Amino acid sequence: MCGIIGYTGPLDSKKILLDGLSQLEYRGYDSAGIALFMENSHTRLIRHTGKVSNLKEECKGITGVSHCGLGHTRWATHGGVTTENTHPHRAGRITLVHNGIIENYHQLTVDFHLEGKLRSETDSEVAAWVLESIYQGDPVEAISKLAAYLKGSFSFCVMFEDHPGDIYAIRNVSPLVVAYTRSGSFVASDLTALIPYTRQYFVVPENHIVKLTSYKVHLYNLKHQEEVPELMEVNWNMDAAMKNGFPHFMLKEIHEQPEALKNTILPRLVKGLPDFGDDGIPDTVLKQCSQVHIVACGTAMHAGMVARALMEPLLRIPVTVSIASEFRYDTPLIDSKTLVIIISQSGETIDTLAALRLAKACGAATLSVVNVKGSTIARESDYVLYTHAGPEIAVASTKAYSVQLAALYMVCCRMAFVRGNYDREEAGDFIKQLLDAIPAMEAMIEKRDEVKALVTHLINKPDAFFIGRGLDYAFSLEGALKLKEISYIHADAYAAGELKHGTIALITDQVPVIAIATQEKIFSKTVSNIREVKARGAFVILLTKEKSKIEPGIADVQINIPDIGDRFTVFPIAVVLQLIAYYASVGKDLDVDQPRNLAKSVTVE
Ligand code: F6R
Repeated sequence: MCGIIGYTGPLDSKKILLDGLSQLEYRGYDSAGIALFMENSHTRLIRHTGKVSNLKEECKGITGVSHCGLGHTRWATHGGVTTENTHPHRAGRITLVHNGIIENYHQLTVDFHLEGKLRSETDSEVAAWVLESIYQGDPVEAISKLAAYLKGSFSFCVMFEDHPGDIYAIRNVSPLVVAYTRSGSFVASDLTALIPYTRQYFVVPENHIVKLTSYKVHLYNLKHQEEVPELMEVNWNMDAAMKNGFPHFMLKEIHEQPEALKNTILPRLVKGLPDFGDDGIPDTVLKQCSQVHIVACGTAMHAGMVARALMEPLLRIPVTVSIASEFRYDTPLIDSKTLVIIISQSGETIDTLAALRLAKACGAATLSVVNVKGSTIARESDYVLYTHAGPEIAVASTKAYSVQLAALYMVCCRMAFVRGNYDREEAGDFIKQLLDAIPAMEAMIEKRDEVKALVTHLINKPDAFFIGRGLDYAFSLEGALKLKEISYIHADAYAAGELKHGTIALITDQVPVIAIATQEKIFSKTVSNIREVKARGAFVILLTKEKSKIEPGIADVQINIPDIGDRFTVFPIAVVLQLIAYYASVGKDLDVDQPRNLAKSVTVE
């Protein structure tokens, strides 16, 4: 939510900031702005509503040289989408960009007598004026004091008028990474903005301040003591963050899934079994728990729903899934015998992070499944299992979901093995079947034109339903979310047997139903439910296995996935569901990668 960037060094800061904002745009795209410290010691603000491309247009006319500046791409929280509310904000000697939310901004406005000074409706400008009020010439001291006044989550990058060419940044929750190179010093919300300039970076630890000069970076804690940053290496290249000939990041990321699965699974196989020794996850953690509690948001939570449906029958212990934003304000029944599995692509989702902290406070062992290396959730969990999807740029999650599933399937298999639910042969067979899912995904990517053709039955409809039972129901939840978020078609998922308890009243010949029936045990039951909606005029799109025997006339369109093990069908089904949403969005001529009102990495509650 919001992307921030700062640069100081010998290069043209305008270009670096604008390029960086294009990379960060997926974090928010309501408006964008830059502040350039010009050679004549004057700071120039250029801000525009809408996408970064608007800002780039506006910047074309700028002459003069700048080697230091700040940039911001906004996901609006406080105040509408206007130029005044666009960052950077200026307050006296201070120019600042902010990611996060200042919860006590109203009280600060009163306490610091800011009425009359504020030009925007943002909490960020309030923070800028508070900083201006307390600043007495020492930026590190003033920023530490500011942090003590603020309640909420924030990272800031700040330029002080009397410290030309230097940038100061602070992080409490919202992410911030820093790199210093021969080409200058960089700070940004995430790595995608820094990757063209460096492979080495550090994650700013929480409650730390960084000072960037054109040739050096200093890291301080809030007691103003200097610390040595913990340097990390980027493990993917710039290609991973480019479209590489695909029309959209989402389509590229759908295609990357088989490779991402291999990268996540294969390095963790020892003699055909999952082994988390290199990840530092001891078997005792997987063996000793008496229950599992999975916590996540959105798509990651849907991966958790699939894992629950897989784990509980196999491990024979209670497995619960919670939405992180609910869990964190709940009084969950977890203790030291609970394994809490936290799932997050970004590793920064604020509710998921709060859930992790609550789980730790309750004494549970915490294992996170995270894609972004060094992210807060990864750092704070007792154990972390990294997924290797590479950067996911499209706002709608695709490859991150399937690698989360792959990681969770491996955890489930290892748990079954160490707890005695599986012998070596059974665990090996489970992994073989998991690997069979990779070519099955490839087969569905090959069938993309078949999927493209069926969306003509969806794109002019206001609603759609996804139905399935058991695991198929868990897959349906993700199918409905994907369709909603990028095609704006209202979609809901239902356990197929539940429809007749109310929802079937909504079924008419105007409502397409996407029915998923891949589980042999309950196949005939799902088919009965499909008949019920068909009898009420629904247009039925059926996703099932090649070998399924379906009477003619039950489905209007049928997409077959390869005949892999029932528990693994989520992988090819996910590809079909993602392609349905993708082509529906394309068919409606919408912004596939940056759907309205959304942003990647939700760092506000
Ligand atoms: C939907 C989507 C979101 C995220 C959710 C959690 O396509 O991407 O629902 O899954 O915001 O994000 P992470 O996994 O970063 O915690």
